Amino acid sequence: MGKVHVFDHPLIQHKLSYIRDVNTGTKEFRELVDEVGMLMAYEVSRDLELQDVTIDTPVTTMTAKRLSGKKVAVVPILRAGLGMTDSVLKLIPAARVGHIGLYRDPETLQPVEYFAKLPQDIEERDFIVVDPMLATGGSAIEAIHSLKKRGATKIRFMCLIAAPEGVKLLEEAHPDVDIYIAALDEKLNDHGYIVPGLGDAGDRLFGTK
Ligand code: PRP
Ligand code: URA
Repeated sequence: MGKVHVFDHPLIQHKLSYIRDVNTGTKEFRELVDEVGMLMAYEVSRDLELQDVTIDTPVTTMTAKRLSGKKVAVVPILRAGLGMTDSVLKLIPAARVGHIGLYRDPETLQPVEYFAKLPQDIEERDFIVVDPMLATGGSAIEAIHSLKKRGATKIRFMCLIAAPEGVKLLEEAHPDVDIYIAALDEKLNDHGYIVPGLGDAGDRLFGTK
């Protein structure tokens, strides 16, 4: 069974308060999302495999630890997931990037896939799916389904803000996936927006609307 990790780190909570604030403009919003993404990526990568390597320090020879070379891929759900992609790449620069494009049909709130391009060797990779928002859960569930359909087995999901409804459905649909959340909010409103949330993540990141 995957675990749900909710972050309580003061730096993350502090930065989130500005991200949520309606008076925070696009430039600052984008920078803060990237910063929180990076702080989260540090924890999300906690159980990456290490291997022993022999190195020479200026003083002696020692056995040190390095990442085992297991291949990592970060997969943003378009559009808003793009805002957290560099955050992961700054910490794991050799990671590959896949893209899954989904939009929520405004009437049904159901996710519709319009793009999927993934790295090779899917079976061998550790996937980190990123999207700032987990609302009804439809987009994350569909994106992870799309990865599994193509052979992915090890998947983590990372978001800034989640609604309890979405977390529950995602856990039920993909019990093997660890879920990382910066803040677990109160509920969804009638339009499928997270309350209190931050509004439309894509629009706030890219300055659309
Ligand atoms: C937003 C968000 C998630 C999705 C979450 O994307 O970035 O992908 O909604 O909602 P859900 O959990 O109910 O599926 P949106 O569909 O607005 O597309 P966009 O990123 O292109 O704006
Ligand atoms: N997508 C968003 O961008 N914001 C929400 O609150 C819900 C879904």
